Amino acid sequence: AIDPEFEDNYEEVERHEGHRVWTPDGEDPTEEKQGIHGTHVAVDFDICIADGACLEDCPVDVFEWVDTPGHPESEIKADPTHEDQCIDCMLCVDVCPVDAIDVDPS
Ligand code: SF4
Ligand code: F3S
Ligand code: ZN
Repeated sequence: AIDPEFEDNYEEVERHEGHRVWTPDGEDPTEEKQGIHGTHVAVDFDICIADGACLEDCPVDVFEWVDTPGHPESEIKADPTHEDQCIDCMLCVDVCPVDAIDVDPS
C-alpha cells in the first residue's frame, strides 16, 4: 500500500502537470521506479495496476490516464491531474484494489 507518511518519508523531486512527484530516496524517477504523484490526492505509481476504478468513480474527475511505458505493474497510471478539485469523498481510496491512493484532507 501507499505510505501514508510519504510527505515525511519521501522527497519531492519534480513537478508533473502542476502537482508534486515524490521518490523514497530523492532519486529521479525512472521507467521502473516512478514514485508518488500528487500530494492532497497521492497515487503511488509503483503500486497502481491501472485498475481504473478511481477514474470511473471519482465524482469530480480528479484523475487522468498517463502513459508509463516500461513500468512492470502497468503501462498507464491514474494521474491526480486535478487534485485541487478533490472533495474528500474517499471513494477512490475505498475502490482501489491495491491501495495505491492516499487522500489527506487538510
Ligand atoms: Fe475524487 Fe473523492 Fe478521491 Fe477526491 S477522494 S480524488 S473527490 S474520489
Ligand atoms: Fe490505479 Fe488503483 Fe486507480 S490501481 S487506476 S490507482 S483504482
Ligand atoms: Zn503526475
